[in-house]
Amino acid sequence: MPILNRAAEMQDEVAGWRRHLHQTPELNFDVFKTAAFVTEKLKEFGCDDVVTGLGKTGVVGIIHGRKGEGATIGLRADMDALPINEIPGKPYASTVPGKMHACGHDGHTAMLLGAAKYLTETRNFAGSVAVIFQPAEEGGGGGNEMVKDGMMERFDISRVFGMHNMPGLPVGQFAIRPGPIMAATAEFTITVKGRGGHAAMPHGTIDPIVITSQLVGALQTVASRSTDPVEAVVVSVTKFHAGDAYNVIPETAEIAGTVRTLKKEIAKKSEERIRAICDGIATAFGATITVDYDANYPVTFNNPEETVFASDVAASVAGDTQVHRAIQPVMGGEDFSYMLEARPGAFIFIGNGETAGLHHPAYDFNDEVIPHGMSYWVKLAETALAA
Ligand code: NI
Repeated sequence: MPILNRAAEMQDEVAGWRRHLHQTPELNFDVFKTAAFVTEKLKEFGCDDVVTGLGKTGVVGIIHGRKGEGATIGLRADMDALPINEIPGKPYASTVPGKMHACGHDGHTAMLLGAAKYLTETRNFAGSVAVIFQPAEEGGGGGNEMVKDGMMERFDISRVFGMHNMPGLPVGQFAIRPGPIMAATAEFTITVKGRGGHAAMPHGTIDPIVITSQLVGALQTVASRSTDPVEAVVVSVTKFHAGDAYNVIPETAEIAGTVRTLKKEIAKKSEERIRAICDGIATAFGATITVDYDANYPVTFNNPEETVFASDVAASVAGDTQVHRAIQPVMGGEDFSYMLEARPGAFIFIGNGETAGLHHPAYDFNDEVIPHGMSYWVKLAETALAA
């Protein structure tokens, strides 16, 4: 079965919601207007229950099927935008300076709303569907907050599914893999304290810039020399701050960055190596080095059984040849990982076509994706909860 006719008919309506959300981007947990819009729509559709304030500003709508008792499955979208200035030009461009929907969460929210409207109209399933709208995907851990708030138990959710658009993948295609599909993330800040002084008398100083430069080089060996080359690890130094003058060697320097891994043991070993390298360089140069290391999102791990199920549903919408069932993992992080730690399920990518990349100021969610994404959600619910 291809795209649902009703989903195709609804494309303009759903695109209207998407463009409305695009104009009013909100960050992190502060998605008050977005959550209010979602809540209003879910109530208007006739959801049997609409619960707000889960995980601070998350929203869950419950839709009961008309075919009797059954399990509850969770379908999840994210609502937050990014602190990026949008490149102007679109008639529906962001009206909030410094904020934009550069990851397509406006499209994710609109497509899941579209599916909720469809499912409340038809209710062609047994059991219940929980449509989950989470805040703070981009770093705040909103998914984790909803799980900690008892969402899974409260609605008795037995399986959970997520979807993200992917620029570069043609519209109408899906991509997925069993096992790790997105990386665990960690962030580090390293402060190197030396001894400042006159730039013309370096022998009287402990130069934190020279030491930190060595450190940046040495950190590259975590991936290149400490990890099995067939395993995945990324160590990127993304900040380097030191000094204010031409003729002063500063007292301190600071670097920060991110670590991405697909396995717990590699994550653990990477942190150990970073700490050991810092200790060694501190000793070698007589500096004091402190490491703040925060493990962030866990690995997004697709349950093998649910991955086959999600792939088959995608194939029923898109056709077999349009579903890539064993893509390479993506080293970005994803906070749906917390929901997948709580319940079995799968996370799938949907093609956004040839658009600018995610988190780019020229990015835009492709409204042509709407009927494909909506059809996937509807078919997933109807198949998982077939009477
Ligand atoms: Ni995203």
